[in-house]
Amino acid sequence: MENLAQYGDWAYLIGAVLFILTLRGLSSPTSAVMGNRYGMAGMTLAVITTFFVASSPNVALIISAMLIGAGIGIYRARTVPMTQMPETVALMHSLVGLAAVLIAVAAVLHADADAFYKAMHGNTLSRFELFVGCFVGAITFTASVIAWGKLSAKLAAKPLKGAWVKPVQATLFLAMLGFGAHYFVTDSLSSFFVMTAIALVFGYFWIAPIGGGDMPVVVSLLNSLSGWAAAGIGFTLGNSMLIIAGSLVGSSGAILSYIMCKAMNRSLLNVLFGGFGADAGAGADAGDGKEKNYKAGSPDDAAFLMTNADSVVIVPGYGLAQARAQNAVKELANALKEKGVTVRYAIHPVAGRMPGHMNVLLAEADVPYEDVKEMDEINSDFPSTDVVLVIGANDVVNPAAKDNPSSPIYGMPILEAHRARTVMVIKRSMATGYAGLDNDLFYLDKTMMVFGDAKKVLEDMVKAVTGGGH
Ligand code: TAP
Repeated sequence: MENLAQYGDWAYLIGAVLFILTLRGLSSPTSAVMGNRYGMAGMTLAVITTFFVASSPNVALIISAMLIGAGIGIYRARTVPMTQMPETVALMHSLVGLAAVLIAVAAVLHADADAFYKAMHGNTLSRFELFVGCFVGAITFTASVIAWGKLSAKLAAKPLKGAWVKPVQATLFLAMLGFGAHYFVTDSLSSFFVMTAIALVFGYFWIAPIGGGDMPVVVSLLNSLSGWAAAGIGFTLGNSMLIIAGSLVGSSGAILSYIMCKAMNRSLLNVLFGGFGADAGAGADAGDGKEKNYKAGSPDDAAFLMTNADSVVIVPGYGLAQARAQNAVKELANALKEKGVTVRYAIHPVAGRMPGHMNVLLAEADVPYEDVKEMDEINSDFPSTDVVLVIGANDVVNPAAKDNPSSPIYGMPILEAHRARTVMVIKRSMATGYAGLDNDLFYLDKTMMVFGDAKKVLEDMVKAVTGGGH
């Protein structure tokens, strides 16, 4: 048995290396597939090893649970549309949080029946791990369910507002810590369960006041929290693999949250407690009550202008994903390239509804990686660009972020499409984007709106470019 545990440590070490290679692979679209394979190999090794090193596992029960979970997972992975990926990710985080809570509850309730748990119960350090793993897991669970509800539009994206919100948050947080500390000191079961219940309620009050525009950071932060909850429970179970995998998820999620905050030019504290989005909708009119004018054109007009341009930069946004227009946009780019036009894509770090959303979509359509430019690379090229074609993007090209200090998104870095010679915007209406803000880009003299579903409009543009000939 001792030997087995020793081999187990080696197997876990190999698993940990595979997980690190996974993260490295996922850092670039070209190596992401390989990264995923490392992840699958690491997880398979970790699961098999756990069967051998665990003390008297109930194999039948575990395999049944795994088969049910894997069945649901495979079905969901095959059927989920790209547009529903962010809420699916949020829901998966909720499961990690729930698992942490259930393991902690099982550990507490089995203290009398199981020698392993009994030893843990009498040990103050173990109680500390249980308490932290459980409340972080409980907060992650409820917060992720709320994030899922907001992202899938099953709950209103609008933030919960009111002067009472912050005091309620603070009271719940302090009460949760108080009961947790009481459990830690006295081993009181009732304090443990009251702490868990408060943490579940706190998860709601933590996320509900955060506006829709900040969901990208929230989702990556929940990713991080789910990792730390798993690591905490890893300490409880004395499982080194769970500690390592949890810490990797926790720290990579924290780094991603930091990158997202930087992309929006805001601090994490400001995102979590600053109430951005609370005024979403303000500024949806001209400000002086006057109606603003815009120009609209047809796909044929737009195709004519693009065919006669030297350079076109395509700015994709959430609407491209919504319309599933990634193949149509690639066809348009190819048709323009055949006419001698230089075509590139400009990607904003928070375009779409999850980190890397646009990169994934374009990769799915086999758009060459060298044509895809990040915001910092392309922003200085806009003044010398003939045509910018904005497809279903809104907030990420809103010039208010640069020149309107009263705008809630003021200071957020944007793709500076407004500096190009001509701007064309494909969207279905003059409606606002995710942050609920009007966009002055649409009313510029050099801007032409092309109304319609992105896929249909792009297909019409392809026909006009290939059929028209210049
Ligand atoms: P948005 O600002 O949400 O704008 C998308 C636009 O696409 C909308 O104005 C909509 O206008 C249009 N649209 C929707 N469906 C369409 C269709 N089928 N065909 C054509 N147009 C369509 O998107 P964005 O510019 O990509 O900005 C991202 C926003 O989402 C930011 O506020 C960001 O903070 C937030 N967010 C990002 C993430 C991450 S990590 N990327 C996660 C959550 C939230 P119409 O209705 O008029 O068509």
